Amino acid sequence: MATINENFLKLQAGYLFPEIGRRMRAFQAQNPDAKIISLGIGDVTQPLAPAIIEVMKKAVDEMGAAGSFRGYGPEQGYDFLVEAIIENDYNSRGVDLERSEVFVSDGAKCDTGNILDIFGLDNVVAITDPSYPVYVDSNVMAGRTGEANENGQFEKIVYMPCTAENNFIPDLPRSHVDIIYLCFPNNPTGAVATKEVLSKWVDFARSSKAVVLFDAAYEAFITEPDIPHSIYEIEGAKDVAIEFRSFSKTAGFTGVRCAFTVVPKQLKADTSDGRQVEVNPLWHRRHCTKFNGASYVSQAGAAAVYTPDGQKQCRQIIDIYMGNAVLIRESLGRLGYEVYGGVNAPYLWMKTPKGVSSWEFFDRLLQKANVVGTPGSGFGPSGEGYFRLTAFATPDNVKEAMERFATV
Ligand code: MLT
Repeated sequence: MATINENFLKLQAGYLFPEIGRRMRAFQAQNPDAKIISLGIGDVTQPLAPAIIEVMKKAVDEMGAAGSFRGYGPEQGYDFLVEAIIENDYNSRGVDLERSEVFVSDGAKCDTGNILDIFGLDNVVAITDPSYPVYVDSNVMAGRTGEANENGQFEKIVYMPCTAENNFIPDLPRSHVDIIYLCFPNNPTGAVATKEVLSKWVDFARSSKAVVLFDAAYEAFITEPDIPHSIYEIEGAKDVAIEFRSFSKTAGFTGVRCAFTVVPKQLKADTSDGRQVEVNPLWHRRHCTKFNGASYVSQAGAAAVYTPDGQKQCRQIIDIYMGNAVLIRESLGRLGYEVYGGVNAPYLWMKTPKGVSSWEFFDRLLQKANVVGTPGSGFGPSGEGYFRLTAFATPDNVKEAMERFATV
């Protein structure tokens, strides 16, 4: 008889977003006339920019002609995309990277989960609470944790609470940790890290020989000038950090799929007998073994993001979402809610009314206003009493959702 990976049995409930979808569909089935507006999962609603569509159509035509058809591409991504990434996302911010340090993939969600393949099971992992659920769940699946306690927190994970009291910036862990997840601009709280904050984390990782897994999927939403977009803008970060980026939100690729991960050559980790090993070749090996590259059409589209038209059009789309964020912030503020985020991030993080839990607020909002958000507790116990709204809906829907909020 085949046996299962029993770590999966430790996982709590379903994955957050399918669970929200399930509740939303159940409500719709009972209330077929309700026009539900979703500000729940952070999924984009604006169509792809014309400059991207044009290039992708051309790429499809190339795939249809014998002379330009392409089969498997390089697992790490086509040079044309990797070079555009390095020049536009890194060189422009004073960061040098080699082509072999960039790995194109089909998503940052997959990458943040898959990266764990190359790290030992005995690493102590520090994760912000609340956090994007993938970080905790993928460590549970891998067997890097014990069981969950009554709060849903797993043994062996070091949780770093992020609440209004610490401005949603985690304190440095007091005990030893080996792998640290940081996500800025943050999903779900919308908080950002200044250079000083990131420098503190880089110094900490360097002194404790830890690796930082830096999720920068939302960097394109930063509006304030001095906020770093990449952890490599911090001196010494290449020795300790892996960075994840995505075209999903930057360019509306949630359905197209394209992302990348940067693993600097100088980043090293230990073997159990104390030898120092470069991490980059391990990720290269893992990528080549388990992944055959993002599709040519997706990568061609991603490269178009960096053309002058692509940049301009993607910026206009991001501005639409950030306009939504302003509207949500202001409307909820007027209604007396305490609201965070939404300035350098497409997520708004609000306090639920006193005495109302995150899931109770979810149900109340769904039933009274037919609006869906994401309960803060779904991102971790410190998210209890908070609620996340995304700015990725259409402006009309956001406007209507805010009008309905007034009735709750
Ligand atoms: C979210 O809503 O947190 C994100 O859309 C989920 C994701 O990017 O996978």
